Amino acid sequence: MASWFEDLEVTERLLRRFPPTLAQEQEWLEKSGKDANTIIWAVEFDGRLVGVTGIHDIDWAQQHAVTGTLIGDKSAWRKGLAGELMQLRTEFAFRQLTLRKLNSGYVEGNEASWRAQRKSGYREVGRRRQEQFRDGRWLDLVMTEVLREDWAAAGGAQRPKATEAGPAARGRPAARRR
Ligand SMILES: CC(C)(COP(=O)(O)OP(=O)(O)OC[C@H]1O[C@@H](n2cnc3c(N)ncnc32)[C@H](O)[C@@H]1OP(=O)(O)O)[C@@H](O)C(=O)NCCC(=O)NCCS
Repeated sequence: MASWFEDLEVTERLLRRFPPTLAQEQEWLEKSGKDANTIIWAVEFDGRLVGVTGIHDIDWAQQHAVTGTLIGDKSAWRKGLAGELMQLRTEFAFRQLTLRKLNSGYVEGNEASWRAQRKSGYREVGRRRQEQFRDGRWLDLVMTEVLREDWAAAGGAQRPKATEAGPAARGRPAARRR
């Protein structure tokens, strides 16, 4: 996992830009595992770990949380993983947890992240202008969110449950909860 952050193409549109040490990565995993307000899934493809996705900062009283995804193995890009895992994650948040809203975002120009989010009903709700410096340019941080009703309107509530027709059922790997 730590090596994913050594690739500038992977971190180009990530908020975390610099590689963690192995010890920092282990500490993050342990801390996340113990945190009742964080859920992390390992994303496997072709039998190997290619990324992580999660629901963080869960506020059980206000019923919202923050989501994020990293497919760190570039050979697994553009295979539909992010689009699919975001649909599964959103479904989990709204069907299995009592959440009402998920907050996220992306750095301007991260078309893949935006397209994947949009499929689950995320919409743009604002921009922090010129928030991130990349390649000699200041880029906006686009803030997104999905309400339970946005997800339903995007067809999420009508889709078969993940357990009935998810990626595993079609012979593809499912995101596995850690
Ligand atoms: C962004 C990221 C999660 C996308 O993952 P992915 O599994 O490759 O995405 P998908 O294959 O599901 O593609 C999602 C959509 O984006 C499109 N897409 C994928 N790569 C793209 C690219 N480089 N440029 C434009 N569109 C792209 C796909 O065609 C798809 O659109 P569609 O469903 O409308 O056809 C992955 O590239 C990644 O982790 N990058 C590094 C870290 C990062 O940027 N994380 C997100 C932080 S907000």
